[in-house]
Amino acid sequence: MSNSFKTFLKHTAKDFHNQSVNPPIVRASTIIFKSMQDIRKTQDKAKKNPTGGHFDYGRQGTSTTHILQQILSKLEESYFTFLTPTGFGAVFLAIFSVTRPGDEIIVADPVYSPTRLLSQDFLKEFNIKTTFYDPHNLKTLEKAITKKTKLIFVENPGSNTFDFQDLGKIISIAKKNKILTAIDNTWGTPYFLKPIKLGFDMSIVSATKYYSGHSDVMGGSLAVNKKVFAKVKAAERITGLRLGPDDAYLITRGLRTLDVRLDRHRENAKKVAEFLSKFKNITLLYPYKKDSYNFRMWKKYYSGASGLMGLRIKAKSEKSVVKFVNNLKLFGHGYSWGGFESLALHQNVREQGNRSYLKLEKNEHIVRLHIGLEDPSDLIADIKQALKHLK
Ligand SMILES: Cc1ncc(COP(=O)(O)O)c(C=O)c1O
Repeated sequence: MSNSFKTFLKHTAKDFHNQSVNPPIVRASTIIFKSMQDIRKTQDKAKKNPTGGHFDYGRQGTSTTHILQQILSKLEESYFTFLTPTGFGAVFLAIFSVTRPGDEIIVADPVYSPTRLLSQDFLKEFNIKTTFYDPHNLKTLEKAITKKTKLIFVENPGSNTFDFQDLGKIISIAKKNKILTAIDNTWGTPYFLKPIKLGFDMSIVSATKYYSGHSDVMGGSLAVNKKVFAKVKAAERITGLRLGPDDAYLITRGLRTLDVRLDRHRENAKKVAEFLSKFKNITLLYPYKKDSYNFRMWKKYYSGASGLMGLRIKAKSEKSVVKFVNNLKLFGHGYSWGGFESLALHQNVREQGNRSYLKLEKNEHIVRLHIGLEDPSDLIADIKQALKHLK
């Protein structure tokens, strides 16, 4: 990212009218006009310029959400960015916008488990078929393509197992076969990876995570290119998905420091990874070891790494892995990630029963760590003491 964007984040969205350094929160269902002619004029403007922030009703947004959309479109280098009440709402909107009964979609095997359940179970009820591909063998992706395939859905890296994929190759396969593409880019955010620039049609980020950064708000963004804009716009209208202005404000506030926080998450995670890489019973699921396929694929496409990592642990019993997690004192035990604080979870990937390609031995377990903004030496000391419980 160029320095100019970092500066833009600090200087954008000022409210010169009210002499405030931050924009106002405009809450509205009804938007008041001076006359019927005024209403029609706004509606005409919205038709001519559908990305221009012309609203006649609060469901379409207010200036508060429009500011956030403009900031995110600049960060994503996208034609437009839609906002949703949660990150998962953005996943749903992306798929719902471009698929209809009778269509097929191809989805990366290690997607976030609600995305897996949406595509493999829920869509089936609407006669939309899903095939999953192996992130490390794109022949499985090519093989799954049929005349009915409408969408390739990627999540990079894969949830919990952090598989990095050859994104350029996926895009070229999709383009050759005239198939649309979407990527869940919550891990890297467009600060480290710009999917629309790379050639994806849609780019999803859960704003709940690094965008807001303070674990106190939920939201999602779906950035799109011009090609899919009209389809997503139509689906957005029909679903009534809307991000509230208070949440939009908090996300805009979080974005001011996105670069500073992510740079620190990256530095801290690197130090923790360096420490963890010395343990024979732990395989780091993080782009740290230079000799791996995952590292090469990360290096090829990303300008940095965030603070979420996995540990593939060989242990005598699952109980001892859980004991290790429970004994972490500075890491909270809870869902989500991307906030200022460190978190740890034992991820029962096997029990979730939602992988076609993952080969996990009986004695292997996955722990997910979110490396927060604490002093990394404290985090390392904490992990060190908790590891004593791992047998
Ligand atoms: C990769 C990824 N995508 C999407 C989501 C969904 O985001 P939200 O919790 O904001 O609905 C999550 C949540 O954990 C996630 O990890």
